[in-house]
Amino acid sequence: MRDIVWGRADTVVWLDYRLAVIMGQLVRRTWRRIVTREALWSGNRESLRQTLFSRESILLWALQTYRRRRREYPILFDRRPKLMRYPIIAGNWKMHLGRVDEALAFVRRIRYGLNQIEGVDRVLCPPFTVLASVAEVIRPTRIGLGAQTMHWEEQGAHTGEISPAMLAELCQYVILGHSERRAANNESDESVNHKVSAALVCDLTPIICVGENLAQNEAGQTHEFVGGQVRAALAGLTMEQAQQCVIAYEPLWAIGTGKAATPADANRVIGLTIRGAVAEMFGETTAQAVRVQYGGSVNVENISAFMAMPEVDGALVGGASLKPDFVELVRRAALV
Ligand code: PGA
Repeated sequence: MRDIVWGRADTVVWLDYRLAVIMGQLVRRTWRRIVTREALWSGNRESLRQTLFSRESILLWALQTYRRRRREYPILFDRRPKLMRYPIIAGNWKMHLGRVDEALAFVRRIRYGLNQIEGVDRVLCPPFTVLASVAEVIRPTRIGLGAQTMHWEEQGAHTGEISPAMLAELCQYVILGHSERRAANNESDESVNHKVSAALVCDLTPIICVGENLAQNEAGQTHEFVGGQVRAALAGLTMEQAQQCVIAYEPLWAIGTGKAATPADANRVIGLTIRGAVAEMFGETTAQAVRVQYGGSVNVENISAFMAMPEVDGALVGGASLKPDFVELVRRAALV
């Protein structure tokens, strides 16, 4: 349940109590009328009356009803703080729209529509070369900006790299450990872990990508492999830091193939494997707080089905984020 309204339990208990009091008063009044008319009134009956309709017994009745309702509707009485998971849709442009003129033309086209949508975080992750220009164009809006990778060190002799502090001037998010980078740029679980910590220190929200390949999926190793990636990426974080992370479950066989995972499978892996791993490390509250997206061939047609899954808090969208109907995709995500 995404949003459980506070105070429902209190209302139920209060109504039960009021009902008990009113019923008690009614019964007591009726009883009094009967007993005053009743000539054969005895001390025994008086004590019976007191036992049945005294204030204590009414309270006891209310308490029993409260306990019964707690058993029947535990969700109403869940006293843990409710952490609403705000949905987040991020568009990963990859190595596309990297020229300033084309990027700005596209952003100007979708900017108004994206900004109008309520109830969902929307983030654009363009290539490095256009980050500054896009940042300028979306500054007056509520659209977020993210990079697609970064180095974990603040500065140094790392030719071609970008540091978290450099990004923090422009962006609020950074995609880390995308499978394409893990495969082609030798990003290891360890380097992803360094990057996650470094991003958080600079107030960047990491979008941590995890996901199994087809062979692992077919061999039934998804749980073990994806769980391991999550544990490695979050190692050494504090509970507060872990809660700020966004995790993207992206099965490799679904990326760019047009063959998305089924919403039910994505829901199961996110709920059992990803939140399960987070719960083992940081406890259930953190597992329930962390936002987990699904990614891999998400489009306008299937976004609603993914968003309808209780464990899915959004999507990391590749190809479909390069088209103007990305606005429609985000709108549909916000409607669920
Ligand atoms: P896709 O890419 O939506 O084009 O499958 C997703 C991703 O790589 O993040």
